[in-house]
Amino acid sequence: MSDYPSVNDLTLEEKAALTSGTNPWSLGNVAAKGLPNYTITDGPHGLRKARNTESMDVEENVPATCFPPAAGMACSWNPELVERVGEAMGEECIQEQVAVILGPGVNIKRNPLGGRCFEYWSEDPYLAGHTAVGIVKGVQSKGVGTSLKHFAANNQETDRLRISATISPRAMREIYLPAFEYIVKTAQPWTVMCSYNKINGVFSSQNRWLLTDVLRCEWGFKGIVMSDWGAISDRVAALNAGLNLEMPPSNTDNQIVAAAKDGRIPATQLDEMAQGMIDLVAKARPAMSRDGYQYDVDAHNEVARQAAVESMVLLKNEDATLPVAKGAKIAVIGEFARTPRYQGAGSSLINPTKLTSFLDAIEERGVAADFAPGFTLDDAAQDPALTEQAVTAAQQADVVLLFLGLPAAYESEGFDRTTLDIPAKQVEVLDAVAAANPNVAVVLSNGSVVSLPWQGRAKAILETWLLGQAGGAALADVIFGDETPSGKLAQTIIDDVNDDPSAMNWPGEEGRVDYGEGVFVGYRYYDTFRKQVTYPFGYGLSYATFDVHDATVAKTGPRTAEVTVTVTNTSDVAGAETVQVYVAPPKAKVARPVHELKGFAKVALEPGESKSVTIALDDRAFAYWSERFDDWHVEGGTYTVEVGVSSRDIISRLGVEIDDDGKIMNLDEWSTFGEWLDDPIGAPILQHVLDDMGREAGRPIIPDSALMVMFLRSMPLRSLSVILGEAGEQVAANLTEAYRKATA
Ligand code: BGC
Repeated sequence: MSDYPSVNDLTLEEKAALTSGTNPWSLGNVAAKGLPNYTITDGPHGLRKARNTESMDVEENVPATCFPPAAGMACSWNPELVERVGEAMGEECIQEQVAVILGPGVNIKRNPLGGRCFEYWSEDPYLAGHTAVGIVKGVQSKGVGTSLKHFAANNQETDRLRISATISPRAMREIYLPAFEYIVKTAQPWTVMCSYNKINGVFSSQNRWLLTDVLRCEWGFKGIVMSDWGAISDRVAALNAGLNLEMPPSNTDNQIVAAAKDGRIPATQLDEMAQGMIDLVAKARPAMSRDGYQYDVDAHNEVARQAAVESMVLLKNEDATLPVAKGAKIAVIGEFARTPRYQGAGSSLINPTKLTSFLDAIEERGVAADFAPGFTLDDAAQDPALTEQAVTAAQQADVVLLFLGLPAAYESEGFDRTTLDIPAKQVEVLDAVAAANPNVAVVLSNGSVVSLPWQGRAKAILETWLLGQAGGAALADVIFGDETPSGKLAQTIIDDVNDDPSAMNWPGEEGRVDYGEGVFVGYRYYDTFRKQVTYPFGYGLSYATFDVHDATVAKTGPRTAEVTVTVTNTSDVAGAETVQVYVAPPKAKVARPVHELKGFAKVALEPGESKSVTIALDDRAFAYWSERFDDWHVEGGTYTVEVGVSSRDIISRLGVEIDDDGKIMNLDEWSTFGEWLDDPIGAPILQHVLDDMGREAGRPIIPDSALMVMFLRSMPLRSLSVILGEAGEQVAANLTEAYRKATA
């Protein structure tokens, strides 16, 4: 970094220039001081680099490997695999001279209709953080930066540029921030991209609490914050909030210069923001100086194939319909088998280096199959001739592979879906085909949950999400049994979107969306309120069978523990099982979900093999965000550690005694009688004061009645006089005085 200018070597105009791009895909230009304006571009599941850097056209891009979007990769529950994907993406950035790739996006899937669910990882922040971190580690291991996005609370596309998300501090800390927090603390992404929306009335781009107090001061973020494309409405406010880089440029550097001159931007703030940009360029320079570097296209395609294999979730497999037996006569039905839906639309649209459909893949294997498209991917009414052709193919087959899903126009960045249903004409084809041949295995392609009211007519269902460019080959591997499915749902499947906890507040109105469900998002709601779901979070079948046994939990510190468990493959095929650890709190002072995911381990096993794994639980595993403490808080008590293979399939429940963190809420006249009674310091003082006063008065101050105590519990001390008259006032005065002395 030594031969780089420092911010002190720059003029005011040059500092301002660094805080905005040169064109839609380049950093700010201060060429006079030897600072290159490196390219930064999308992301997130492969490199989308425009052929023309001046252009905002998302469709004209250089070829790059299209890995499975996050909706699939999250189901791998395999951070090491995700890291390999990140490494490959980093190598492609080096070849294409891209200093920062814009991803991963770790916003929570608050509602399955969200238009970017395909780009996001999970409804659960622990899973989102612990899988997406692999992208950051992998890319950055190659000397290229990532941009963790969209910070924060971009959970819908409707009105995304203006909407204000009203979120409680607790839901923010427990649901919407932890994936960002974990990745920042463990992998230091070089950049963070702010979201378009407002949070509680403040644009993320201008939110100093978010960008400076939380991100930098609390979490220790060392990199730069950039805007989402066009997210800034007030550059001065944004810079003061802690935003280093405006993208794309709005040619308003003069505003920054003027504000710096008249003191609206403190000199130290501008220096800090500009220095961050210089540091970013310096970090990227070694990788950006590797002229002529070329990545291995085939090796990356192979990484994409493996990622696709582990993205698939086998939902149902009656009569061992899958894998398809060797020599079986197969009918392949559905346009998706020929025209794969392999990625989502919008800024993440990758121009793949190659593309294998399922039909290509089986042809390559020399497998004969009868193909019928079944339906078209447009909105045209069903053509009866296509149905008939599909039925004929089905009648002549032993097994039908029926490819259903969402056509590309149904989900994209920029808008939310309005229904969970797949097009009705596809269900019509399923009905006709299943009537002709009940041995139907449905292969689904979709970026977010679709309803499955028709699942009774399918013997097997393989949810493949969107599989990236090597999806056809990966599918053939799984369908013919060369690979065993091992994906587990990262998102609960429901059939009726009105069952979603956010349904009443989706997608908001008149510029505001209330996150009224609080922390009860996804399975946290379904499991706590015992709602029926179609397939639960964490669920997924395998061709292998497993025994999860001998789970134990041991305390490792006052508020930490570790779980050890053994997994045995009880079948004669290799496979992988993902052990999930949920923590269930004892009765708490606040409403807590019945359990929450706090650890997992994916265990690959040969037939008959056993392995033990140990999963650590840190103090965050037991904590909730207390709005009264404005901090994390662990209450002491016996927590239940649940070891299972989905949120609804818990195999062992183990108790562990966790110590209280000792945080004490100061009591005062506004504290209720009940809070005094329950407080370890307040209770004895209260007793003492009541005894003293009772002795003096010659009668109990509080009538000896359980009902009266129940009644008083909810009353602040200062209101006791309403019931107890003057004695109430005296209790309040004596108590607060005694407490002040005891805690001084
Ligand atoms: C998207 C970002 C993306 C950016 C640049 C925005 O519209 O929200 O995710 O990185 O465009 O393409």
